[in-house]
Amino acid sequence: MAGNDYGWYPGHMTKSIRAIREELKLVDLCIEVLDARVPLSSRNPDIDELAKDKYRLIVLNKSDLADDKKTALWIEYFKTLNIETLVLCAKEKKTSDAVRKASMSVCREKIERDKKRGIVGRPIRAMVCGIPNVGKSTLINTITGRAPAKTGNKPGVTRSNQWVKTSAGIDLLDTPGLLWPKFEDKTVGLKLASIGSVNDQVINLNQLAGEVVVMMKELYPGVIASRYDVSEDTSVSEIIKGAGIRNGLMLKGGDVDMGRASEAILGDFRSGKLGKITLEVPSQNEQ
Ligand code: G4P
Repeated sequence: MAGNDYGWYPGHMTKSIRAIREELKLVDLCIEVLDARVPLSSRNPDIDELAKDKYRLIVLNKSDLADDKKTALWIEYFKTLNIETLVLCAKEKKTSDAVRKASMSVCREKIERDKKRGIVGRPIRAMVCGIPNVGKSTLINTITGRAPAKTGNKPGVTRSNQWVKTSAGIDLLDTPGLLWPKFEDKTVGLKLASIGSVNDQVINLNQLAGEVVVMMKELYPGVIASRYDVSEDTSVSEIIKGAGIRNGLMLKGGDVDMGRASEAILGDFRSGKLGKITLEVPSQNEQ
């Protein structure tokens, strides 16, 4: 696969996919974690084929940062695909109970089948999958109450998978299945970079902040103008300047430090200071 404008080159995909395929053989349930701000761009559709024989649960994570109205549209969308969806903030303690309930619901057929064979209370075996930075490790941590083995988001790191028993009635593989984003559509890279899922060091931050301003003006008119005290039809570079002035980010000669002003916009966007934001809704194509 080719690289992309946002500088992230997804390598070793075949190896990663092969590892996930092997590990999925061991589980009943595949828990696919997506970022609720970009449920489509943070989804690798290969998972549909990889997990086709498994019970499925989609977690829309980081819902604390996402637009609730659009999250509701995504739940409806995944319903049309017959995949149950759980809206989460993986850092919260109540996550564990929510995952337990949803997993029981998704796997009810298997639980009933076990019951008929006299097997009661056998834990569900589950594996967490998803692209980098969606919150897989955080979710595993919260459910297991311990630190999982760090994979460093690099397939090829030796994986010593172990089953972790959890109070949620789930046996969980302690290392997540790492998928890669699909960069075929240019906007996917842009959206993932905007939310901070692509390493900032390889990105032109000024350009990215400009793209964020453009997206915000289109999706949430008025928000940028009121936050940075500029008029809505101001040019992108004037808006970045406005953010610099608002945050006192000036150079010695009195000009705005555009680099730090860009960082300020990205920081505000990623931390929710510009509000709860979702960058995509299910389109006709996805229905
Ligand atoms: P990964 O395993 O899928 O690669 O993701 P990981 O759990 O490492 O999470 C990536 C970042 O997202 C972490 O932030 C983590 O704290 C944050 N995160 C995970 N779940 C949520 C959530 O529901 N809401 C919010 N707001 N953030 C979440 P970080 O800055 O990289 O690390 P840290 O300083 O928070 O530890």
